[in-house]
Amino acid sequence: MTDPFVTGSHDDVAASPTGRRPRVVLGVSGGIAAYKACELLRRFTESGHDVTVVPTAAALEFVGAPTWAALSGKPVATDVWTGVHAVPHVRIGQDADLVVVAPATADLVAKAAHGLADDLLTNTLLTVRCPVVFAPAMHTEMWEHPATVANVATLRARGVIVVEPDEGRLTGKDTGKGRLPDPAEIFELAVDVLNRDGAELDLAGRRVVVSAGGTREYLDPVRFLGNRSSGLQGYALARTAAARGAEVTLVAANVSLPDPAGVKVVAVSTTAELRDAVVAATATADAVVMAAAPADFRPTSVSDAKIKKSDDGSAPSIELVQNPDILKQISHDRARPGQVIVGFAAETGDASSSVRELAVAKLARKGCDLLVVNDVSGGAVFGSPDNEAVILSTSGEARQVPRGSKGALAHAIWDQVLTRLH
Ligand code: CTP
Repeated sequence: MTDPFVTGSHDDVAASPTGRRPRVVLGVSGGIAAYKACELLRRFTESGHDVTVVPTAAALEFVGAPTWAALSGKPVATDVWTGVHAVPHVRIGQDADLVVVAPATADLVAKAAHGLADDLLTNTLLTVRCPVVFAPAMHTEMWEHPATVANVATLRARGVIVVEPDEGRLTGKDTGKGRLPDPAEIFELAVDVLNRDGAELDLAGRRVVVSAGGTREYLDPVRFLGNRSSGLQGYALARTAAARGAEVTLVAANVSLPDPAGVKVVAVSTTAELRDAVVAATATADAVVMAAAPADFRPTSVSDAKIKKSDDGSAPSIELVQNPDILKQISHDRARPGQVIVGFAAETGDASSSVRELAVAKLARKGCDLLVVNDVSGGAVFGSPDNEAVILSTSGEARQVPRGSKGALAHAIWDQVLTRLH
């Protein structure tokens, strides 16, 4: 007989290196955002993960055990006194490949930071040796309270990934920082952590800045000069850096993608705004990756009113001036010693120079440490989920990254950044 509670498709198993389904423990603590963890759970089960849900007693006040059982296809363990013969408080943690706690309340963050173990979830957190991701959700005052700040710092220092909450509408009428990030984004981050197969959080304690998207230069209130950059590569860089433990600022120019979980997103539109935001964030950064496509030129003047066409069929000419070169500026100014700066180059090659020759010249001209070179003959990269590139370094190395996901290229870039940071 089929189990009526099993709704997740377990056929599309996400292969793990050991050939079995990756085991995820989903800890849920007692906040209103517990209902969003149902969506997270669905994403895990539907992509073939074996999920054990461990809700706290308070979480069950918000979402009941039947919901967790139905969505995970498994009985739900809620306390240490059920099934004692199987020693669940130890076994669940020992078997896990990844633990995600979403939402994590201030109380749970405090207990985890201090090693308290008074229920099944806190016991499990003490027994696990796999990566742990916390996605806190609470009111702004609780998040900013010195006790919570210290507890979060303790967890991070121990290698736990604590995702920054989103800003926005909270439970009541108030708004502020403390919302649980979009479950789809928590899922992406969690899968990225899992796919690294226990690799250490090698960017923990590092601050990184990533720019993404394409800037717009306005002619009048409704028209602009822009480009085809989707922001996908920059967003992949931000997400993967967060999954490796970095504190990430993402300066996004006109990107219509959801904010990656735990990443501070600064929205900009023009190249001048992009420069100001990047320069400000760069002051305290260990690494900066300029994945954005800033417009090189802007109209000399912006009309306050919509430009009208004339009856005689003539077209206006648009006079342009050059924009600041942000990559060049931050590479030459070097806000901090040892800062690693990475540029991108989208090249097509021309009659006199190959893509590689143009890229080598650009690396020298910009003054950055690494240059990620895409051959865009035919517009191959824009909007595509895949990418391939060569990472050139000032020491003359050229590392070929074969065609793969933009996430895979992002990891390869962070690997190169790390060797330089060391
Ligand atoms: N870039 C920048 N500021 C600009 C233009 C580009 O910081 N005004 C950065 C991009 O984010 C990218 C790198 O410079 O990391 C190279 O961008 P690209 O458009 O290839 O370089 P350009 O200097 O515009 O060179 P080209 O004349 O070949 O277009």
